[in-house]
Amino acid sequence: MTKTVEFGKDLTGLEGLSVDQISTILDVAEPFKEISERPIKKVPVLRGKTIVNLFYEPSTRTRVSFEFAEKRLSADTVNISGSGSSIVKGESLVDTARNLEAMRIDMVVIRHGSSGAARFLADRIPSNVINAGDGQHEHPTQGLLDMLTIRDHMGGIEGRRVCIVGDILHSRVARSNIYGLTKLGADVAVCGPPTLIPHGIEELGVQVFKRVEEAIEWAEVLNVLRLQLERMKAGYIPSLREYNRFFGISVARLEKAPRDILILHPGPMNRGVEIDSHVADGPHSVILRQVTNGVAIRMAVLYLLAGGSPERAEAAKMENRS
Ligand code: CP
Repeated sequence: MTKTVEFGKDLTGLEGLSVDQISTILDVAEPFKEISERPIKKVPVLRGKTIVNLFYEPSTRTRVSFEFAEKRLSADTVNISGSGSSIVKGESLVDTARNLEAMRIDMVVIRHGSSGAARFLADRIPSNVINAGDGQHEHPTQGLLDMLTIRDHMGGIEGRRVCIVGDILHSRVARSNIYGLTKLGADVAVCGPPTLIPHGIEELGVQVFKRVEEAIEWAEVLNVLRLQLERMKAGYIPSLREYNRFFGISVARLEKAPRDILILHPGPMNRGVEIDSHVADGPHSVILRQVTNGVAIRMAVLYLLAGGSPERAEAAKMENRS
């Protein structure tokens, strides 16, 4: 008998999800991948649902990816940015959301600069809330699409050695990757300058490499993160040049590895700082595959939170097949 996996109202992080919930999202994303390859990229799965994309911070990939996912599932969508709304006149997050709810919405996708903003909102409105990145806390759909990409290319996640390299301290992507990957049985490590590694991170079940050469010697997958200069309130590194010299992922460094290493980067990239162009565009880079997988992951999350059955995902995507 197949086990029924339940989802709550919201997706605010991977920390609170079970192994079954994470595996189900990855599995449901599989059939949804094909919809984006069709000439007419649309199925009626979310017809009649109204979704608001509320982005208080800049975004290219996540915002557009959610919008494509929503439109491909036939939802009605509205985009609101911090700078183009009454937020600049001092309206609070909850007041903004309650006014949107007065217009009868079903879901809110939120990106916010404050850690915990998505949970705060989810606890105060009846609509489904999906976290599209909140401060330094979590970016769950990025973690899920990274995991789907690793699974696609490595044949599975359990036992794989994944090292996250860069500014771990300020990274919500690192946190969601750590929670998701460790739950699914990967060996996870982090690597970066000591000032950018959070104190006590080992308690999350990861090991720490101080030198990138050691990380490259160990890893099968590198997930390379940018330096989040906009969140740095102090001089965490002497200079970008120095960071590149000691931690930049270059062909010369990867050539010393005992195996080919799969290269991920959540974007946006700072070429020549955390990653060299020959690596970003090289044969082992799956950076654009991550972006493609992001649409399928977001379709899966929207479908499941809207009450879609995991068992019916394959059938749902065949409805109104063009
Ligand atoms: N990976 C990611 O969150 O990119 P954006 O900031 O462009 O959404």
